[in-house]
Parts: sequence; C-alpha cells; structure tokens
Amino acid sequence: MPIVHTIRTLMIAISKLSKDYGKRSLFENISLNINAGERIGLLGPNGTGKSTLFAMILGEIEPSDGEIRMNKNIRIGHLPQECGFHSQRTVIEELLEGDSEINRLNKEKDELEKEGSADSMRYGDILERLEILGYFQLEYKAKKILTGLEFKEDDFCRPVKQLSGGWQMRVLLAKLLTCPYDILLLDEPTNYLDLNAAVWLKDYLSDFKGSFIMISHDKAFLTEVTNYTLILDNGSIFKVKGSYEHYEQIKEERRKFLVKQFKDQEKKKEQLERFVSRFHAQPNKAASVRAKRTALERLKESAVGLLPNSRASIGDFRFPGTKRSGHKVITLEGISKSYGDITVYEDFDFEVYQREKAVLAGDNGAGKSTLLKIMAGVVDIDKGRRIVGHKVDIGYFSQTRLDVLNPENTVLAEAYSAAPGYMAETAVRTILGALLFSGDDSEKKVKVLSGGEKSRLILVKLLIDPPNFLLLDEPTTHLDVDAVDALTNALRQYEGTIVFISHDIYFVRRVANVVFDVQSGKVRKIAGEFDYYLEKKAKGELLSENSHGFGYRKPNHCSSTYRAIRKEREEPKKEDTDKLRLKEEKKRRIKEEKRRRAHNAATGGKIDKLKHEKENLRLEMYSKSRSLSDPRIYRRRDEETAKEYGRRIKEIEKLIVQIDEEIKTLKSGLLPVTGLN
Ligand SMILES: Nc1ncnc2c1ncn2[C@@H]1O[C@H](COP(=O)(O)OP(=O)(O)OP(=O)(O)O)[C@@H](O)[C@H]1O
Ligand SMILES: [Mg+2]
Repeated sequence: MPIVHTIRTLMIAISKLSKDYGKRSLFENISLNINAGERIGLLGPNGTGKSTLFAMILGEIEPSDGEIRMNKNIRIGHLPQECGFHSQRTVIEELLEGDSEINRLNKEKDELEKEGSADSMRYGDILERLEILGYFQLEYKAKKILTGLEFKEDDFCRPVKQLSGGWQMRVLLAKLLTCPYDILLLDEPTNYLDLNAAVWLKDYLSDFKGSFIMISHDKAFLTEVTNYTLILDNGSIFKVKGSYEHYEQIKEERRKFLVKQFKDQEKKKEQLERFVSRFHAQPNKAASVRAKRTALERLKESAVGLLPNSRASIGDFRFPGTKRSGHKVITLEGISKSYGDITVYEDFDFEVYQREKAVLAGDNGAGKSTLLKIMAGVVDIDKGRRIVGHKVDIGYFSQTRLDVLNPENTVLAEAYSAAPGYMAETAVRTILGALLFSGDDSEKKVKVLSGGEKSRLILVKLLIDPPNFLLLDEPTTHLDVDAVDALTNALRQYEGTIVFISHDIYFVRRVANVVFDVQSGKVRKIAGEFDYYLEKKAKGELLSENSHGFGYRKPNHCSSTYRAIRKEREEPKKEDTDKLRLKEEKKRRIKEEKRRRAHNAATGGKIDKLKHEKENLRLEMYSKSRSLSDPRIYRRRDEETAKEYGRRIKEIEKLIVQIDEEIKTLKSGLLPVTGLN
C-alpha cells in the first residue's frame, strides 16, 4: 500500500451529483463518500450509468450538477470496460516501466548517482518514495501476477500490441495490480478472463490490502471479494456495508418493513379521511375535524414510499423460425493459420452438423476465437478450404463488439443495416423495443452505448434477419443477469445451429449439446452435456490420444519425429574412416567449445542478475533502515509497519549472504575456454 492509513481516510467525496444526457437523467442528486480500506462492488442493470460514474471520478466526463472532490495524494488506477492498448513495450516492460512516477524517480536517482550525490537528502527521499511505491519488489510481484493471469513465460517478452484485445486487457489488469495505486476502479474485470484466471483474481482480491470499486454482474464473485456494496438503480445510489449477499438480505428486510409501514399509514389515512367526510358538516365536531385534517396533512407530508422497482431488463424473446440448412453446416479441410511465427492451426479438419449447439472449450489462447473467425470467414486462412453448407446463413457475434458495429451509426440505422431488402421501420422499432431500445435510445450513436447496450444491439441485428448458423464469441459478456437469462432461453429454443465460446458455466450448461475441446491446434468432439466433458477432463481422459471419432487433425507426416525415423533407416554411406573420424573429432571439439561458451555466458547472465538483485535489496534495506531511524519519516509510520520493516531488513541481510554464496558457486562453475572456433 502506498499510503499508510492509520485512520479511515476519505478518498473520494461525491456530493449532490447529477448527470443527464438530453432528456434522460442518469442520476439525480447523489452523494456518497469512498474511504480507504473499502472494497466496493458496484452493481446495476445495463445502461444505468456505472461506467459513466467512473468516467466522472476520473474527470473524463463533466457532471451536469454537483461535484466530486478527491484526496489530492491518491493515485487512481482504472481498468476500462473496453479499450485499445497502444503500447510499444513488451508485456513485462509495460508492468515494470509503465508507471510514470516510478520512471521519473528512477531517472532522477540515476542522475544523482552519476553526479556522485548518492549521500544527499534528496537521494534518500527518492529511495523512500520508491520504497513506498513498492519499486524494489516490482519484478517479483509482476511475474507472480502475470503467471496468475495465465501468461506463459514466453509471453512476458512479447510486444503488447501483438496480443489479442482480451490479452491486452489482461496486461492492463496485471499492471493495475502490480503498480502501487491507492484505489482501483475496475470496470467488469472478469469479462476477458476464463474460469481459472477468474478464480485466481478472486483469491488475489480477497487478500488485497488496497481499496477498489469493482463493477460486475457476477454476484458470486462480488460476494467473495467485497466489503461494501453500491447499487445504482433508477437514478439513485445506495451504499451498504457488507457484500452483495448482505445487501439482498437487508433490502428484503427493509422492503418488508416499508410495506408494513405503508399499509399502516394507508389504514390510518383511510380512518382520518372517513372521519373528516362523515363529520365535516357538524358544528359540534368542528375542532376534531380540524385536528384530523392537520393530522392527515402531516401524514401526507411524511408519507413513506415503497422502494422503486428496478429498471426492467430485457424480457424473454425468441428467434423466429429460419429456413432449414443442409446437414453439413460447415466443413474446414486442411486449414493452416498462423499469426507471424505462431502457428495456431496446421492441416486442420473440422465439421459442424445441423442443429448442433456446440461450445468450444479449452484453455485461453488455444485458438478458439480464431476457429470461430475462420468459420465466420472474417480472417484470411493461409491454406486449406472452408466450405459453407447448403442454404447456410451465418451470423457472427464478435468478442470485440465494434468489429460488427459501426460506431458512427445511430442505433436505428445500425439495426436497419441488418434488414434484408425492404422492412418497415415499425418492424425494426418493435425488435429494438423488445431489446429495450426506446424511441429516444434509437437516435443515439452506437459509440456512446454502454457495454451491455452494444451486446443487445448485436442481438437486435441477429433477430432482424435471423441466420440459421450462429457463431457467438462470449455473447453474455457485459449483459446483466436478466439479459443473460433471456438470451439463454432464446438460444435453447433456437432451431438453427450454434457454435459458441463462453466462460459463463451456467450459460454453457444450459445451451450446449456438444463440446469441442480445443487444445493447441487440435480439436476433439465430445458428444454430450458439458458436465460429461468436465468429468472426462477432471479424470485426465482428454489427454490420451485419439479414440474413434474424436480427433479432427490429420497426422503430420512432416513432423521431426517422422523425419528422424526415416533417417535411421537409411543405409550409411562408405567413406574413408580415418578422415571421417578426424573430421568428427574436430566437429566434436568445436561443439564442446561452443557448449562451454554458452554455459559461461548463461552463468555470467545469472551472476549479473544476482548482482542486480543484490543491489536492489541493498537499496531497499537502506531506505527501510533510513525510514526507521529518521524521526522525521518515522513519525509518518505506524508500529505495525515499523515491525514489518525490521523483519524485512533481517530477511534482506540473510538474502544478501545467500546471494553472495550463489555468486561464488556460479563463479567456481565457469569452464575454461580455448579460443577454438
Ligand atoms: N454521450 C452520450 N449521449 C447520450 N447517451 C449517452 C452518452 N454516453 C452514454 N450515454 C448513455 O448513458 C447510459 C449509461 O451508460 P454507461 O456506459 O455508464 O452504462 P453502464 O451502467 O456502465 O452499463 P453496462 O452495464 O451496460 O456497461 C447508457 O444508456 C448510454 O447509452
Ligand atoms: Mg459499463
């Protein structure tokens, strides 16, 4: 934690905030404080203004009224709901060098060292600040977080711009968790994670010492990691201590209490009104009637209202019947596809049959989205044939929504763009209305739509001209709970064929009747429910080689193993044996020399790395000892931190001894080299 909080520090104060877009008011007069140590879940149906609230806290959008005040020392980290990442750095560089404050301090530190001013007060202050920012543990932490988010070591050095959108979001998330922020604003962080990574993030955030506000539609996730809940609904906001589950409980209690109060109040009102209407003409009751009238007025003034109903989400909808396609919906024959030097598929065969509702399961990066794109015909293939079956119409729902939406269109124009030939505007508007786009919403530009609204608009387009083969990449992402339910039901009743990718187990279970397990360019078909697949996977049965009907990849006769076997069978040629032996011997010695040099170079690299580590530890120890001994700094620390620092200093002393030992051992392992080339 960058700031040591001994008391509850106010971080963000929101007061009387309102925001409207034209006639539509998102929130009115909301006030709320965010304090250090709060881990807040922010919930609300699609389009209620959650992301807008973040944008206002960050100062990217102006409120219509009211203000947001911020503790000026806090650093805010933000994970947007969708973003393009334009970094020139590699993954690890982005985490280690992507923080502007750390960069600035490091530069100044280097300059002071060059000038020979490493004993100056300023130098000490810089180390102190770097220490507070967690700089000395940065690399260790970065690697741990990347591994947790399922980056392989090879990926650490890949340029960020080469990664897919989903993986770029993971880099950003890793960076937010690695770098020192006082508060994180996380807008649906699990959207791009598969199950394993989501579980890792849940565990990480459960132990997280900083503060965050996290928007999510995943109530189970929120329940485990938050200690406060914010509900944004109907233009107002409620903050409740406790996780979502707790909110549901008190909401129910409060609702019961209010209903009772409301009923009592109505009963009282009725009695008073009856009295007034019965006796208002009788002079001897005039005083009582006056008193009852006053009571009635007071009652009306202080009347309790019932909690407003939540804004409705989409209700059930159905895909209209579509024309029947041929039995084979799509066939891929001998397909090869690479991105640069990464081969995703090689000589790959695949088939989908009519009325299959197939989920592509398998690890992240296994090539699921690429397979869907190949089927959709939206990426070029390097080799092979893609054969679309008889009378097959394809509808593709891309993970990056904007691939299939034009941001400059209005909602109505975008929906119209999907209409086949002539279609009455009222018919288009009816479908828009069913998916909750009212008259005013239809005039909005696509680019201002919220995440969930963009997903809904793609569904509108699919409903306007229903295809009989749906290719869906994470269709439930961004949708609120009710909308996911509505989509699940619609797809269950859909009469066409579906191939989809989803990390939402509940959704997969209810929709899939076939599972394709995708693992590094190979696909196996498991005909049956998703749970049957999970069971097989848990037992490790998917790891064994193909049994009948499962494999879809041709044996690769060009593989190196195959070539090696062929070579072994070839007859050796006759040559002068002495000459050959000499040649062989020279070759062997050169090879040996190369091996020694490589060994020494690797050892040298290890020694340099250890020296670097030692230097960082030395600096960390220096800055910690300085913090403990300098009363000017020590005053700012609490007892707990002082103890922690003492413990760490001892640990560093031991680590330095260990590193010296390791360097000694490595040096003694250096091999003599001869200069032979
Ligand atoms: N510039 C704008 N003009 C008009 N309406 C806008 C503009 N920007 C956003 N909106 C609307 O404001 C509403 C709130 O958007 P926001 O992105 O904050 O929703 P959200 O709660 O984050 O929803 P989701 O759960 O779908 O991400 C949406 O209906 C959106 O269409
Ligand atoms: Mg949003």
